[in-house]
Amino acid sequence: MERPLMWLLGVILASLLRGPLAAGGITEDERLLVSDGAWHRNQRKSVSIESSCYYTTMEAMPYGCQYARAHFPSYQNEYQRKSEKAALMEFYNLCGGDFWRSRDNWNQDLDPCWDYWYGVTCNEHGYVIKLELSDNRVRGMLPSTMGALTSLIKLDLSSTESDYHLHPNEEMNRVEGVMPSLAMCFQLEEIEVSGNLILRLPDDLYLNADTLRSLSASRNLLKNLPIYLSRYQLLHTLELDNNRIEDEFPAEFGRLQNIRFVHLQYNRLIGSITRDIVPMNKIRVFDVSHNPGLSGVIPEQIIVDWAYVDYLAILNTSIAGYISSLCLDVPFCWKFMYDTHKDLTWATVSDVPDIVGMTVELAQTQLFAESGMR
Ligand SMILES: *[C@@H]1O[C@H](CO)[C@@H](O)[C@H](O)[C@H]1NC(C)=O
Repeated sequence: MERPLMWLLGVILASLLRGPLAAGGITEDERLLVSDGAWHRNQRKSVSIESSCYYTTMEAMPYGCQYARAHFPSYQNEYQRKSEKAALMEFYNLCGGDFWRSRDNWNQDLDPCWDYWYGVTCNEHGYVIKLELSDNRVRGMLPSTMGALTSLIKLDLSSTESDYHLHPNEEMNRVEGVMPSLAMCFQLEEIEVSGNLILRLPDDLYLNADTLRSLSASRNLLKNLPIYLSRYQLLHTLELDNNRIEDEFPAEFGRLQNIRFVHLQYNRLIGSITRDIVPMNKIRVFDVSHNPGLSGVIPEQIIVDWAYVDYLAILNTSIAGYISSLCLDVPFCWKFMYDTHKDLTWATVSDVPDIVGMTVELAQTQLFAESGMR
């Protein structure tokens, strides 16, 4: 036999002995994913091995697992991934990235998703789904390109406390000014930007109303409530306390059918609370205390309709009426009124005997529920 032919046969034989390419077994990339190494801790939380190595068949994805593929220019230069990386880099540059508490792998020629940039979590397609940089010394205005993170589910740029036992929190974020539009983030569920210097939430935040579940922007410099409030039908948490909100309390509030936690204390709300709030009957906490200009009457109907309420706080407001006679001079009230004072004298008003019975019953069941928790 001719020499080249024998060589060819040898190659074919060797490859047959090795078995067909990439069929079964664990690849280097999969080993990375299941190892206990430091590689991409955050990633492993959100992307299961099945999904990140899902496209390992030759037909679906010629390069094996995503991690290997992620280093090919064709992957990195895909329009969406490229814009997301550019947006992250602009954010880094404008918000003092070089001085962040932690900036692991940022600002290097690495992939934000697969090389674990601190605080960045992605889905299996290499798009950013979470940006979590709480207490990280993020400073300045957010760039408008932040809205390019179109797969974002959670944005957390909060500062926890300004001090811990008199030691100032050196890592506080200081995001300032007007927040950019996130209107293209069609999956955005959670915004947590408390403890910054934000003047305005995105003007078109209502375009996120179909997905937003939690909006926390306590301890900022906000002057207004979000507009078109009744569109936020999934919202369960609204924390806007300790701002400078001077709006009228909107009648739309009651149409927030899923709202559980409302924190509006320490603002400058005006206007009146009316019967319109009764329908938000999944409410657990309703705190409008320290809004001296807020008036109106909390309708008695809530004693029955707000079956899950833990507490209600109206201290330092101008709210009048029946419930205010119980609550207006305590930090918060409801079951706590009963727990601490063992006193429901406020409820002995003769014209509402049925409510007295219901209230005692409710207070007692809540007391049991609470003592069970302790
Ligand atoms: C009443 O509320 C205002 C506005 O939030 C606040 O500045 C003030 O300190 C409060 N007063 C008391 C006695 O707590």
